[in-house]
Amino acid sequence: MTRIWIRGGRVIDPANDRDEVCDVLLEDGRVAAVGPALSVDDAEVVDATGRWVCPGFVDLHTHLREPGQEYKEDIATGGRAAVAGGFTAVACMANTQPVNDDPATTDFILDRARSDSPAKVYPVAAATKGLKGEVMTEMSALVEAGAVAFSDDGKTIMDGGVMRHVLEYSRLVTAPIITHAEDRTLVAGGVMNEGAMSTRLGLPGNPAIAEDVHVARDLMLAEFTEAHLHVAHVSTQGAVDLIRTARDRGVHVTAEAAPHHLTLTDEAVREFDTHAKVAPPLRSAADRDACRAGLADGTLDAIATDHAPHAQHEKELDFVEAPPGMIGFETAVAVTLDLVRDRTLSPVEWVRRLTANPAQILNRPGGSLGVGGPGDVTILDPEQRWSYDPAKGYSKSRNSPWSGHELTGRVLFTLVDGKLVFDVERGVLV
Ligand code: DOR
Ligand code: ZN
Repeated sequence: MTRIWIRGGRVIDPANDRDEVCDVLLEDGRVAAVGPALSVDDAEVVDATGRWVCPGFVDLHTHLREPGQEYKEDIATGGRAAVAGGFTAVACMANTQPVNDDPATTDFILDRARSDSPAKVYPVAAATKGLKGEVMTEMSALVEAGAVAFSDDGKTIMDGGVMRHVLEYSRLVTAPIITHAEDRTLVAGGVMNEGAMSTRLGLPGNPAIAEDVHVARDLMLAEFTEAHLHVAHVSTQGAVDLIRTARDRGVHVTAEAAPHHLTLTDEAVREFDTHAKVAPPLRSAADRDACRAGLADGTLDAIATDHAPHAQHEKELDFVEAPPGMIGFETAVAVTLDLVRDRTLSPVEWVRRLTANPAQILNRPGGSLGVGGPGDVTILDPEQRWSYDPAKGYSKSRNSPWSGHELTGRVLFTLVDGKLVFDVERGVLV
């Protein structure tokens, strides 16, 4: 029997209404007990004094690039970067090569995850064949193979009739449809937020209205079909407001925000820095603040990294040509603790948006330290300062706007199914 006794930490477990200094005992891969001053024989002890002990973080939006683009990332390196960032489970998007639009590809991803990844991997299957937005995938076969949600992420489903049918079918398999909401005709080739900065830089702008219009359409279709719509990487004030009023009307909608949209603005593009190029783009300060407020009032349920690795030679292209995306696993905790430091979120609400809420959106176990549940735990020091160097990280790619920055807040230990898989002193252990 393997036992791990996590002693004396501040246990923050929103699913069980717990925020107190106590011990956690993991036994045979599961949470065996949580309480003050447990007395345990014969256990490996992790001293958590002065640290936060949380359920393992769940990232519902990531790109692991395997199969097909292993020069950017693969399931082994992505899974290692995930646990180094405190994520014990990650959902991976379908825009691989080939696209994850059939059960064989879903099977392959799960096989690879079992053999290569210290983090649990939940495949998100494509909603339409080849992400073309035309023909639906076979949702029930994909769910049987292990898909947990459907998304054409990276692309937008422009055809309203197709989106309607995708939403209708998703009800039969009880899996959410994750929308990448950018109306392509309004994006119209824009590569950064449309505004004063895009004018100054002479770059084509992608207006906030491209996101607002598409979110409005998808919310109406979700209301009409009574399906579960999940809005990925919300970046605009308009989208936050639309989601809030739809939720109030009873629409089954959930939503996420990415660390970069919560903390950065289009100012970051000033020097034509392609590391600040993402889709949807970094927006205005008003949009960023609306996303923070939306996260605080629960309109946005989850923090999700949208970890999107790209190779150096791709990010060295000029701004228009470079692919959008940034890596995010290893910086997410420090970057988003900013919202706790400025009191936008309490520690409990911050943890909830990284644990119970994303687990619930994906209908997965975990995200909780309930007795009997999976022994997935993240232990962090919210005050520790460190310097981030992606070259010393676990991702194959280095495309981060926080490269070389001093960050505050660090993951110290990550446990998956009761096994220590990351220790900041020793690195990833598997
Ligand atoms: O910035 C992004 N990168 N947004 C997306 O939707 C796709 C992603 C990627 O796959 O690189
Ligand atoms: Zn996306």
